[in-house]
Amino acid sequence: MSRVVVTGRVPEAAIEKLRTEHEVDAWQGPESIGREELLRRVAGADAVVSLLTERIDSELLDAAGPQLRVVANVAVGYDNIDVPACTERGIVATNTPGVLTDATADIAFGLILLATRRLGEGERLIRSGRPWKWGMFFLLGTSLSGKTLGIVGMGGIGQATARRAKAFGMDIVYQSRSELDPRIAEELGARRVDLDELLTVSDVVSLHCPYGPATHHLIGAGQLAAMKDSAYLINTARGPIVDEAALASALREAQIAGAGLDVFENEPRVHPGLLELENVVLVPHLGSATVETRTAMAMLAADNTLAVLSDERPPAPVN
Ligand code: GLV
Repeated sequence: MSRVVVTGRVPEAAIEKLRTEHEVDAWQGPESIGREELLRRVAGADAVVSLLTERIDSELLDAAGPQLRVVANVAVGYDNIDVPACTERGIVATNTPGVLTDATADIAFGLILLATRRLGEGERLIRSGRPWKWGMFFLLGTSLSGKTLGIVGMGGIGQATARRAKAFGMDIVYQSRSELDPRIAEELGARRVDLDELLTVSDVVSLHCPYGPATHHLIGAGQLAAMKDSAYLINTARGPIVDEAALASALREAQIAGAGLDVFENEPRVHPGLLELENVVLVPHLGSATVETRTAMAMLAADNTLAVLSDERPPAPVN
């Protein structure tokens, strides 16, 4: 029997699954586990099931000890994990791809609709108690049909977002490390372009790439300036892919028409410049937040953990 430390609350089914074979120490506090408590608890763990709010770095791996075999993130993004540090120590790191693809694409498309149809502004207006009435020119937004969606990062979530956009009559361009399977590209009517072209031709730019040194501030002042002044930026990937200060300034100066953000550069803090603006929709990192999806993510993290602890290849290793 191995010792599994779960760093935050996850759906019970996953805990039960882990408990059938191992001793499980799951943090149950209403708040995130503090760093000191986390470092103390991981000592002697064979497996750590981590949430994206926890930094899994050399300090933590050392605090756990040399018996640690697997770090199973309950997230598809794993920028909170120092993967090379895991690899150096022979620790397997895993994530949860696939199971949150549709949920995240739904939120990306939701933000596209919220931003382009000014739904956030409308909602805030009604709640403010200020007077309003139907008017020919009242809160006019932008139609999606016939417009171009530029997808940065055409993995599973990018493709699922493209599929939704196609149903809304949008044309798709994408930028990605690799070319799409030609059958999928044809089905989506998606054309691969470089980032510069994507930024200049898109009416909506949606980010779906992983975060890392190569994508830090991928969208900064220069990229925002290259976008159409009628265009929208949507981010459901990771906050630091966008230079938030530059975005606040581009939105304030009407260099672009609007934005929809599910993720933030210094979560949970949001750049104060964004909070003042009407032309940005802000939601609190809800990409995978459905009961079904969170359960599937936790179950996949449990499967990853159980596999490594049984000397098998886990379903979703990242190293
Ligand atoms: C959520 O942000 C995830 O990476 O799963």
